[in-house]
Amino acid sequence: MKGSPPICLEKEIRMAYLKPQRPEKVTAPSLRASKERGERLVCLTAYDYTMARIVDEAGIDIILVGDSVGNTILGYGNTVPVTLDEIVMHTRAVRRGVQRALLVADMPYGSFHTGADDAVRNALRLIKDGAAEAVKMEGGRKRADLVKRLVDEEIPVMGHIGLTPQSVNMLGGYRVQGKTAETARALIDDAKALEDAGAFAVVLEVVPREIAKLITESVKIPTIGIGAGAHCDIQVLVIHDLLGLSFGKLARFVRQYADLKTTMTEAISRYAEDVRTGAYPSEAESYGLPAQAAAELEIPTPKTDAEVEKQ
Ligand code: KIV
Repeated sequence: MKGSPPICLEKEIRMAYLKPQRPEKVTAPSLRASKERGERLVCLTAYDYTMARIVDEAGIDIILVGDSVGNTILGYGNTVPVTLDEIVMHTRAVRRGVQRALLVADMPYGSFHTGADDAVRNALRLIKDGAAEAVKMEGGRKRADLVKRLVDEEIPVMGHIGLTPQSVNMLGGYRVQGKTAETARALIDDAKALEDAGAFAVVLEVVPREIAKLITESVKIPTIGIGAGAHCDIQVLVIHDLLGLSFGKLARFVRQYADLKTTMTEAISRYAEDVRTGAYPSEAESYGLPAQAAAELEIPTPKTDAEVEKQ
């Protein structure tokens, strides 16, 4: 398996009644030690079993079931309509494909806005029903008390500041955040407040690289950058953007590593062409009737599968 070397902090005690974790398993507390050692970890989104398994086996350290599922899989156009049930369902699918990476599930818009008890209940669904190991929540200082409450209930929390897509109706669009001295200072305060509240990491989305560097140097928890420059401890991308499966113009921070949309369109078109011309399926791609049944049914003796395969 690819990926970073074992990240466990200390020798683990074997508890006979508990399933032991693999030594190389990435955990929420292990991220801080990785930052101290200067390791550059990698995070990607995934939303289903197949993608999650490929991402995990490729050695990615953190897998996020982001509410970007609203754009990539559900076709909503933004993340606002995404529901808790949807995130739970996708997290369950992803869980089945992940063994090594830390699995984080997003708290969707509306799941933490109606009081701390509701937020705890909803986060617990992601942990118990979805089998996520941590939750991510958008918002800075104004969510600090909520982060502390979740952490007090043993739920690891990843913060998320800068461009917070759930606030699109308040922000009026998707723009770089923290471009003035005042808003940049506010971002630094947000990151510190989340750290003080017990968040184990913080996503910095679309902020100037200088501010991301300042934040990364001012907190002990790792920063996870998306459109925030090279100084963040960890980088994250939406997997559909990286693989070339997105529609429309890509943001400037996206590096596209494959063009799967074109590959898929070509494969699907070739299949359709083969069906239309009768080139698919061939005899070798179908099943012959055994001779005995053919004789009883008075069907001319068919070729055996072995004969077909030889052709
Ligand atoms: O929902 C998501 O995919 C995210 C990442 C972009 C950080 O929040």
